[in-house]
Amino acid sequence: MSPDPRALRNAFGAFATGVTVITTRQPDGTPRGFTANSFTSVSLDPALLLVCLAKTAHSADVFATAPHFAVNILAEDQKAVSGLFASRTPDKFAQCAWTPGHGDVPLLDGALAQFACARHDLVDAGDHLILIGRVEDFATSEGQPLGYFRGSYFSIGIERELAEAAAAAKGSRLGAVLACNGGVLLKVDAQGALSLPLAPKPSLDSLTASLTAQGLTPTIDFVYAAFDDRSTGGHAVYYHGQVSGTLPQGYRILPLTDLARAPLANPVETQMLARYAEDYRNGSFTLYHGTETSGHVRQIGA
Ligand SMILES: Cc1cc2nc3c(=O)[nH]c(=O)nc-3n(C[C@H](O)[C@H](O)[C@H](O)COP(=O)(O)O)c2cc1C
Repeated sequence: MSPDPRALRNAFGAFATGVTVITTRQPDGTPRGFTANSFTSVSLDPALLLVCLAKTAHSADVFATAPHFAVNILAEDQKAVSGLFASRTPDKFAQCAWTPGHGDVPLLDGALAQFACARHDLVDAGDHLILIGRVEDFATSEGQPLGYFRGSYFSIGIERELAEAAAAAKGSRLGAVLACNGGVLLKVDAQGALSLPLAPKPSLDSLTASLTAQGLTPTIDFVYAAFDDRSTGGHAVYYHGQVSGTLPQGYRILPLTDLARAPLANPVETQMLARYAEDYRNGSFTLYHGTETSGHVRQIGA
């Protein structure tokens, strides 16, 4: 007995995914595209990916025969683009910004990654076609992805908002461990004491604005430590990221080799840099949470 399709679709929906828009050209050059969360990377050598397309889609015949297609991985602010390409609007490409890429495939502006592919194979699979593409060109950019789970969009940027809300509580602080030229960026006060850079106000915007005002270009990527600091009665959040630019006055770079014995004024930050040195050696990063004296360290990725 085959399962109830609606129940099966709901169960498949328990697998959280990103969202992509698959694009191509029909033989007369008209751009075509549809939203898909069935995208999967397949192979590195050769470089292959796949996406499943319903045979009932208007564009099924076009994609089944197109020699090239592109996969555009959507960023968290591209919900409307996802909705547009999931619709049957005839002029989808008139309503969004795009440029032709390798093989003349349409690449959507603002996507987190774009893969221009040559058709490698087409597999008939039940009520879908599996399009297998060989990646011939690709590009990636900074940002957070648009997520999809159980029929709704989600954004992992929410993690940042939560961290900022927690940090906005009284007595809280927000700082960062920022990799820079083979070391970590430190602030030096008038007495020569060293500390990690802290935001004037406990918000990520405030942190990036203060560094930018010093002529630095920060890129923040994930929360590195979040803990209750009983000495201040507040919550502390430290992000991890990178920074580039000319070193302004009042800052210095502590080389990676010296991090394990970083002479910082705050012992919590000293421990954080010792952990950073170890994470860096292991090639995989961790997240600390707890209090200023004891807590848990969790693996968060390479
Ligand atoms: C988040 C999301 C994911 C989707 N994933 C797929 C998919 O993987 N494969 C597919 O065939 N349709 C998928 N769809 C539905 C198509 O985008 C939709 O049927 C669209 O109308 C097809 O365009 P077309 O009919 O112009 O070809 C998805 C829709 C949404 C909103």
